[in-house]
Amino acid sequence: MLTQRLVLTGDEAHDKPLIQQAAAIIRAGGLVAFPTETVYGLGADALNSEAVRRIFTAKGRPAWDPLIVHVDTPDAIRRYTRDCSVLTEQLIRAFMPGPLTLVLPKQEAISDVVTAGRDTVAIRIPQHPVARALIRYSGTPIAAPSANKFGRPSPTTADHVLHDLNGEIEAVLDAGQTPMGVESTILDMTTQPPTLLRPGGVPKEAIEAIIGRVRVLGEPIPEGESLPAPGLSARHYAPQAKVLLCAPEPDIFYGTLKDALSQYAIVGALRPDSWRAPDDPRLRLFEWGAWGDWETLAQRLFLGLRALEKEQAHAIVCPLPPEEGLARALRDRLLRAAR
Ligand code: TXA
Ligand code: MG
Repeated sequence: MLTQRLVLTGDEAHDKPLIQQAAAIIRAGGLVAFPTETVYGLGADALNSEAVRRIFTAKGRPAWDPLIVHVDTPDAIRRYTRDCSVLTEQLIRAFMPGPLTLVLPKQEAISDVVTAGRDTVAIRIPQHPVARALIRYSGTPIAAPSANKFGRPSPTTADHVLHDLNGEIEAVLDAGQTPMGVESTILDMTTQPPTLLRPGGVPKEAIEAIIGRVRVLGEPIPEGESLPAPGLSARHYAPQAKVLLCAPEPDIFYGTLKDALSQYAIVGALRPDSWRAPDDPRLRLFEWGAWGDWETLAQRLFLGLRALEKEQAHAIVCPLPPEEGLARALRDRLLRAAR
């Protein structure tokens, strides 16, 4: 199969027919990768089991790992789920469209293939104008995991998508780099209090300011144990290189690089601005951004991991962000990549 790259320019007259072409592919049961404000998604018609099955094949994703359904209005959330509580309504008002996914009891119409046979569905309203137009023109909810091969870092550019999935999907809508760079926050609304299944674009603190306390799962759980978010298996978001995390202190970063250079032929690093690194031709530095500027660091995290992998780094050194705000999402992804 030939994968078409549909390059968007941001000009409505130019982009509209291309997004409509992508929507026609979705309606016909095909697969289209598209940008969201978080990462690129791999979309199919969520009401078409055959189409959704193809997502699992293309990604190499196990059938027990359910997908997120993308819709364009709060009404669509109510249509495809049951028991929208007061808390759910408050979250919809505060954060949607945006990088928040809610796990809710599902309605019949959503394919069991999407939910891996569960009676709940993960659902969100993306904010990216291209994602919203695609859903609208398709006239159907779109099931979409991140558009990477299973276990790999999520794609933040169309090149990343094609690197993993060229020849296995009908098209990718290319709108450049995604603005946030880490995936949505996933909140399970079927527990009391709600449970944070995956930290992401909407910080836990912002959610708690609206609905009060939420429960947090512990650190990554070993592979194979039963998990509330089945896809959050421990090693995930991982480049081929070994990821080595260090405490977020410039001196410790420097020392960790020295150590790594004594053990690995080529060493990469996600380097915070102006942090010192040894002078060694075997070192590959990705200039990450200012430490503490979590928006920038989030946007560039997967980009950096993939760039260093391309430079054949055998190990990638990275300081570990703290457990607060948006940094919590970066910390989570890095801990999983380092397993
Ligand atoms: O930002 C995002 O959320 C991106 C964009 C494309 O929307 N999507 C994304 O999807 O990250 P994915 O498939 O890579 O991650 C979805 C996670 C998986 O870990 C899956 O196990 C979990 O959501 N999940 C899906 N449905 C669930 C359900 N009913 N209950 C619990 N967890 C669920
Ligand atoms: Mg994913």
